[in-house]
Formats: sequence, structure tokens, C-alpha cells
Amino acid sequence: MIRSVDTYLETERLALRRFTADDADLLIELDSDTAVMRYLTGGVATAPEIIRERHLPHIIAGYEKWDGDLGLFAAHERDGGAFIGWFCLRPEPGGPRDEAELGYRLRQAYWGRGYATEGSQALLHKGFTGLGLRMIWAATMAVNRGSRNVMGKLGMTLADTIPTPPDMEMVEGSEHGGVRYEITKEQWEQR
Ligand SMILES: CC(C)(COP(=O)(O)OP(=O)(O)OC[C@H]1O[C@@H](n2cnc3c(N)ncnc32)[C@H](O)[C@@H]1OP(=O)(O)O)[C@@H](O)C(=O)NCCC(=O)NCCS
Repeated sequence: MIRSVDTYLETERLALRRFTADDADLLIELDSDTAVMRYLTGGVATAPEIIRERHLPHIIAGYEKWDGDLGLFAAHERDGGAFIGWFCLRPEPGGPRDEAELGYRLRQAYWGRGYATEGSQALLHKGFTGLGLRMIWAATMAVNRGSRNVMGKLGMTLADTIPTPPDMEMVEGSEHGGVRYEITKEQWEQR
């Protein structure tokens, strides 16, 4: 169940909360879907022990590091409480605290309902009005239309093309490289 103390933000349909050490199975199931992982690993599932021993401890350490304000958050439907995936808003390791990366990974059953846009819009609002962020960016493979469409709907604009990281060269479409979208606080205010 969602404990109110852990709630990070709410939208019309979604509640975002901080992950706990008990949440490994949610992440394992999410990362085991070939379609979800298509533009991340080429469809390969993340090994459960990597999630338990590396990813989840890293997520929880992030709350400590950023005082619970930034990080990676579990998303649930407010109606019924189903886990739909995660969103993140966090600085790059060693990067400035007022610039954060937006990210999202949703369970396939919940695609196509506007959830990625709805959760991300709320994160932009919180980041720019409550967390002191100056710029929010997001990156994906050039061929990941769904992810790019979300960025576009948020008012983010293409800022750069980026090379495919060496560990993603086997992913379908990697020859087209990656894209980086950005939005500044000023641009967001003027929308
Ligand atoms: C990318 C992802 C987050 C989109 O989530 P979503 O909740 O379905 O997105 P939304 O419903 O908010 O869609 C936003 C827009 O993009 C469009 N869109 C979504 N997925 C699409 C796809 N695969 N191809 C083309 N357009 C797509 C939607 O139609 C919508 O546009 P519209 O309002 O004009 O119809 C989801 O598919 C996902 O989690 N994929 C796997 C993980 C991933 O690739 N994450 C991003 C890595 S950077």
C-alpha cells in the first residue's frame, strides 16, 4: 500500500512515491518486458540480482543525497493503486544541482493513456516551482518515437544529438544515435 508519508507528488490520475527496499520485485517485473527494454538494452531483461544489489540501493541512496527532493520514484494509479512504472528527476552524478534529467519507464499495459506526459508535466512543475531547478533535460535513442513525443508534448526542444553509448550499440536503431531535449525554467514559464 502507498503510505502517505512516502508520497512525492500526485496528479489527477497518478501518485508518485519513494521506493523502499521491499520494491525489488516491481522493478524486476518492469525490466523483464522485452518491449519495455527495447530501446534500453535491445529487449534484454535486467538481471534480478543487479536490481536487488545495485539499482534499488542506488535509488534509495539518492533520496539521502538529494534530501528526498530528487531521484527515481514509483508511480501508481490513484484509482486502485496499481504500480505503473517509474519516473525520475535527478541531477547527473557530479553535475549541478539545479539541472536535472527527466526519465520514465512504464509497464506496457499502461502505455497510450497519457500517463508519461501527465507524470512528467507534474515533475516539471515541481522542479521549476518547488525544487529550484533551472533546466530539465531528457535523452533517448533517436528512434524512440514514444519517448520523443512525450518530450515534445512537455514543450522540451531538441538541443543536441548524442552518440550511442558503446553498451547500446546492439540496440535496434542505434546507428541513428541519440537525442537530447531540454527546457529551461524561462521557457517553461512562457509556455
Ligand atoms: C515511452 C513511454 C514512457 C511512453 O509512455 P506513454 O504513457 O504511453 O506516453 P503518453 O501516453 O504520455 O504519450 C505521449 C505521446 O506520445 C505518443 N506515443 C506514445 N508512445 C508512442 C510510440 N511508441 N510511437 C509513437 N507515438 C507514441 C502518444 O500517442 C502521445 O501523443 P498524442 O497525445 O499526440 O497521442 C512508454 O512507452 C515506455 O515506458 N516505454 C518503455 C521505456 C522507454 O523507452 N522509456 C524511455 C527511455 S528514454
